[in-house]
Amino acid sequence: MFPIHRYRRLRRNGAIRRMVRETLLSPDCFICPLFVTYGKGIKKEISSMPGCFQESLDEAVNHARRVFSLGIPSILLFGIPEYKDEIGSSAFDEHGVVQNAVRAIKDAVPDLYVITDVCMCEYTSHGHCGIIEKGDVSNDKTLELLSREAVSHARAGADMVAPSDMMDGRVGAIRASLDDEGFCEVPIMSYAVKYASSFYGPFREAAESTPQFGDRRSYQMDPSNRREASKEAAIDIEEGADIIMVKPALSYLDIISDIRASFDVPVAAYNVSGEYSLVKAAGRLGWVDEKKLMMEILISIKRAGADLILTYFAEEAAEVLNG
Ligand code: PBG
Repeated sequence: MFPIHRYRRLRRNGAIRRMVRETLLSPDCFICPLFVTYGKGIKKEISSMPGCFQESLDEAVNHARRVFSLGIPSILLFGIPEYKDEIGSSAFDEHGVVQNAVRAIKDAVPDLYVITDVCMCEYTSHGHCGIIEKGDVSNDKTLELLSREAVSHARAGADMVAPSDMMDGRVGAIRASLDDEGFCEVPIMSYAVKYASSFYGPFREAAESTPQFGDRRSYQMDPSNRREASKEAAIDIEEGADIIMVKPALSYLDIISDIRASFDVPVAAYNVSGEYSLVKAAGRLGWVDEKKLMMEILISIKRAGADLILTYFAEEAAEVLNG
C-alpha cells in the first residue's frame, strides 16, 4: 500500500523500463504482404495504402530481397491475375501470377519463407471468394477449387498456404489434397477467425477484389460475435490447421486474447489494410506521430496474444527495431 508501494520506481529511466518490459517485438514475428501483378517493370502505388505497391515479378523479387535483408523471415503473396472468370481459373493456373512469383522468389531468396494466400476473390469476375450458385457462394463446390489452388502453390514451392475464403471444411479439404499430392510437409495457416469487416476496404483496391454484387456477410463472421470465434478456431485445428489467424487485429484484440488462452497452436493476427491506412492518413495530416502509433499498435497486438503479425508496417517497423 502507498507510500510503501510506488509503481513509479520501476519507470524512472529507460534501463529499468527495458528490464521489466513484458512484451517484446521483433522482426521475427512479422509477415510482410506483397501484391504481385502480371507484366514487367510495374510498381504502382496503391492510393489508399501509401508505401504499398502492386508489383510485377521482377519488382517483387527485389522487394522480397529487401524484406529478407531487414530480418523479416516471411512474406505473404497475393496475386492480381491477367484474366478473371466465373470460376477464378487463373487461381490454379500452373503459370499463374502467384505460382510464377513463388518460383522466382524462392529461386532468388531461398531462405525467405513464402506463404501464399489461398482464395478465389482476386481471380473471379464477380469478386466473391468462391463459385456462385443462386446468388450466393456455394460452399462445397468451392472446396475443390481452393484445394487445386493450394496444391498449385505447393507445387510451385510455397512453404505454407493460407486459406482466407471462410468456406466451411476448407482446411480439411486442402489438407487432404496436399497430402494426396505429396505435400504433407506444407503447413496450413488458416484465416480461422475472419470477420466481415469494413477495415478491408483499401485491400480491395490493392487486390482488385471488390465483390461486384452483395457483400461477404454470408461467409465471413459477424463482428458482434465473440463465442463463435472459438468454434471457428477449434474446427480448423481439428481439420489440420497448423497456425490459426484472427483478422482484423486492432478492433478484435479481445478475440486474439480469447484464442490465445483457449488453444495451444501459434496464433497469427492480421493488422489489415484499413488499420494501416488510418494511421497513414492521420500521419499525413500531422494529427498523430505515425511511427510511434505504428509501434504502439503492433505491441498491442502482440500483448493481446499474437505470436505472428501480418502487417503492411513490417518493413518500417523492422527498421525501427533494427535501430
Ligand atoms: C481475400 C482476403 C482479403 C484480405 C486478405 N485476404 C479481403 C477480403 O476478405 O475481402 C484482407 C486484407 C486486408 O484488408 O489487409 N479473401
